Amino acid sequence: MKSATISTTNIAYVDRGNGSPVLLVHGFPLDHTMWRAQIEALADRCRVLAPDLRGFGRTPLGKTDASSGIAMEQYADDLAEFLDAIGIDEPVVLSGFSMGGYIAWQFVRKYGDRLRALVQCDTRAEADSAEARAGRLKMAENAAEWGSGRVAEMMGLKLFAPQSFTTKREAVALIRAVVEHTSPAAIAAAQRGMAARPDVTSLLPTIKVPTQIIVGVEDAISPPAEMKRIAAAIPNAQFVAIPAAGHMTTVENPVAVNDALSRFVEGFRPCFL
Ligand code: MLT
Repeated sequence: MKSATISTTNIAYVDRGNGSPVLLVHGFPLDHTMWRAQIEALADRCRVLAPDLRGFGRTPLGKTDASSGIAMEQYADDLAEFLDAIGIDEPVVLSGFSMGGYIAWQFVRKYGDRLRALVQCDTRAEADSAEARAGRLKMAENAAEWGSGRVAEMMGLKLFAPQSFTTKREAVALIRAVVEHTSPAAIAAAQRGMAARPDVTSLLPTIKVPTQIIVGVEDAISPPAEMKRIAAAIPNAQFVAIPAAGHMTTVENPVAVNDALSRFVEGFRPCFL
């Protein structure tokens, strides 16, 4: 992996292929490896950038405010700085997954002129319910004591379609291992940030760039019906349902996700050398 220095940390990232940039932003509490299959599939047609966000994978957490964590907007600021640091000044195709999607909405809001297109996978536009927010804050308060293993156990069942636990054992094991290796401090910081994230539904009709919405048909965290509403609210957005997948579409059905992403990116062919 490469490393880029920004004001808050050193971002570890994968940089593969040539041509116009596609920026892949992972979910919580994961790292760039959740995009492994997509990195492989896209690298022969564009430049794929897959960073580890602050505190995840190989990127150090850096300084954070323990009481407020890291806001989605701050992660978006990190991404803009990261692009500056590696000299990307042309617009990117930004693909966010779940928490990466919450961050992508903030990127759209603050850095819309840096976008060529947007792909939102298994994410939400609404803020949390009071109950969900309380659950996040409880995890943030207890993450150090619980340890990442317990967090992996708590989250595991919700991440996958039920049949994936028998048919996609390798993918389930990969994601579990990533969560187990994530530091409790990073988990706490991100949970506090997600708990405080704003509702962005009013942003959706203002999105001008081509947008693709991807969701697993059995996603229990960002359900298809909710993602369909997101697609309907964004002018001309394309909606893609991924069969045989829950929340973790990129690893549960990589073939279908790669196909959707590749076809979408092909639409910008003149830009992709
Ligand atoms: C994710 O996959 O990033 C998380 O499930 C997002 C969340 O906790 O809302």
